[in-house]
Amino acid sequence: MELANQINKERLPKHIAIIMDGNGRWAKQRGKIRIFGHENGKNAVRQVVEGCAELGVSCLTLYAFSTENWNRPKLEVQALMKLLVNSLKEELKTFQENNVRLNVIGDISALPSKAKKELLNVIEQTKHNNGLVLTLALSYGSRDEIKNAIKTIADKVKNNIISTDLIDESTINEHLYTHNLPDVDLLIRTSGECRISNFLLWQIAYAELYFTETLWPDFTKDDLCKAIINYQQRERRFGKTSEQLN
Ligand code: IPE
Ligand code: IPE
Ligand code: MG
Repeated sequence: MELANQINKERLPKHIAIIMDGNGRWAKQRGKIRIFGHENGKNAVRQVVEGCAELGVSCLTLYAFSTENWNRPKLEVQALMKLLVNSLKEELKTFQENNVRLNVIGDISALPSKAKKELLNVIEQTKHNNGLVLTLALSYGSRDEIKNAIKTIADKVKNNIISTDLIDESTINEHLYTHNLPDVDLLIRTSGECRISNFLLWQIAYAELYFTETLWPDFTKDDLCKAIINYQQRERRFGKTSEQLN
């Protein structure tokens, strides 16, 4: 990580979220099938997990499979699920070595049973690690998440567990899949697409957005550093004026 020394460790983003995009195009450029791109995306995942752990970032959230991705060809979905199971098995060692705790957000009930089983296994085995919290967004859709939160809150109101007058922003936060995570500080999307694709809509309200042309399988620790360096050059005003901050 050559660029790591340009990062101010006092002002690290607490929570980095990444939309890992461009696997299909990466494979196509090499005349290969899309799945080849997904397989090579694993290297980039290891790069960012190790990179965040080494820098001391608290939370990393990776968008691995969206609710909309279920609409892809069946063979691709199957391959992605198989890749998930194998990666979890392979990466357990990386997680332990780097003191990483695994967490998951999304509609996990929709995943194949093998994937659910392996996820629960790795979550259990890493639950005492107190370094980086790595959250995988799987079968995740932000609108689905918000819909579920509203349903639960509405039920609680109906059953007099909470009163409408007391519903505030923290009530909503507490009912999202991300209730244990801080807001996103830095959102990275690879592959040149400049959209959010139903990822963490509530949680990125004040995130800094960083888009790069790099395709996901090519993303390295130094690309992560570049994004953090760029983030640290920005002034986060949260509605205030520049003068108020200084
Ligand atoms: C991201 O790469 C991985 C997933 C969405 C699962 P893509 O598969 O979307 O790659 P492109 O966008 O087609 O290049
Ligand atoms: C977003 O990428 C989902 C993940 C990275 C898991 P997509 O490739 O599915 O997004 P769109 O469809 O191009 O917006
Ligand atoms: Mg894509």
